[in-house]
Amino acid sequence: MPQGMQEAQGTQESLSESVGRVAQGFEFSDFRARVTLDDVPEVPGMIAQPTQAYYKWLTSESLAGRGAVVEIGTFLGRSTVHLAAGLRLRRDEPVLHCFDRFVWRPEHADTVALPLQAGESFEAIFLDNVRAVYPNVRTHAGEIRDIAWSGEPIELLVLDAPKQLPDLSTVLSVFGPSLLEGGRIVLEDFLYFPAYPIACVLSRLGDVLAYEHVVDRSHTVALRVEAPLACGDAQPLDWDPSRWSPAEVRARWDAILEPLPEPARRRLAPGRWLHLHDLGAVDEACAGVRGLDLNRDEQALWERLAQTHLHDRYAPLFAALGLRRRFDPRRPKDRTRARRELRRAWRRAYLGSRRFGRRMLDAIQPGSQGS
Ligand SMILES: C[S@@+](CC[C@H](N)C(=O)[O-])C[C@H]1O[C@@H](n2cnc3c(N)ncnc32)[C@H](O)[C@@H]1O
Repeated sequence: MPQGMQEAQGTQESLSESVGRVAQGFEFSDFRARVTLDDVPEVPGMIAQPTQAYYKWLTSESLAGRGAVVEIGTFLGRSTVHLAAGLRLRRDEPVLHCFDRFVWRPEHADTVALPLQAGESFEAIFLDNVRAVYPNVRTHAGEIRDIAWSGEPIELLVLDAPKQLPDLSTVLSVFGPSLLEGGRIVLEDFLYFPAYPIACVLSRLGDVLAYEHVVDRSHTVALRVEAPLACGDAQPLDWDPSRWSPAEVRARWDAILEPLPEPARRRLAPGRWLHLHDLGAVDEACAGVRGLDLNRDEQALWERLAQTHLHDRYAPLFAALGLRRRFDPRRPKDRTRARRELRRAWRRAYLGSRRFGRRMLDAIQPGSQGS
């Protein structure tokens, strides 16, 4: 799915091997040793095991039970069932509020084959998936730009839909005032470098948010809310990464990256070069990516991204790495081949999706996929 090769399958660069460690006031861990995932059903989607384990641990063991749990960007519920599996272990059984447009798009077929036409709702499928684990779930269907919140205090806000400034600032201004001190914002794609505006925007709230958990082998980061987050409706101009000066980019990116543990820093670091490219400092950005010293997993990620729309936007950066788009998106045959190849890559990355797709189809139209 284009929005996120969210959970790279990195193996080489991990430092923490399931044992958490605390660095500079936050915890860097692969949370898989903390919980069992055997009892959580398989749902196709974007998050890999470390984040799945983190979500279950977070809601079962780390919530104080002082406020609501809110997730924005659920897709079919892979992240949600893990949040739900943790909530199920609690006594207080809080409502799990889930926001999404729940509208099927052609690119969703890259993750799982479901008999849905573009534009149809997948809310019922989502609810079936999640209610099997935890009944106390409430959906809120709609676009982020129209989103509203009751004002109920929130202890945990999980974000996997807003990736760019307009949606991020809407979410922060709508939900920010309800976030409890000591609560958390979890950002699924914080370390995914093509989504670099997330880290930039959140860095502007550095006086009220602090890194709390960095999930190893993933792009997931949790920020602890240290003080009330009253952002107001008017988004501060300096949040907008496209307005930063190149000098500001250099200084602020140092501040964003410096506290992170090495594997996490490596994931996010290319964002600085995309950012400089977007500001017109193309030569400096090209020199930056040339100096990246990519390991095998990082090289594979760049190669995959070169076959997506990102290539058109960042052609000089891909060229600096000697990568080209092998398929011409203007030729229908090439488009089909490119989609097929990408689909295979996503499926390899998100094991279980194809099996799930067959199961879903068989439930809806028995025998439709053959054996
Ligand atoms: C990356 S997927 C979420 C993946 C999910 N967390 C998982 O674990 O599989 C992003 C979701 O956000 C939703 N979304 C993206 N932009 C949105 C918007 N502007 N308004 C409402 N929903 C949106 C999409 O419908 C999609 O289901």
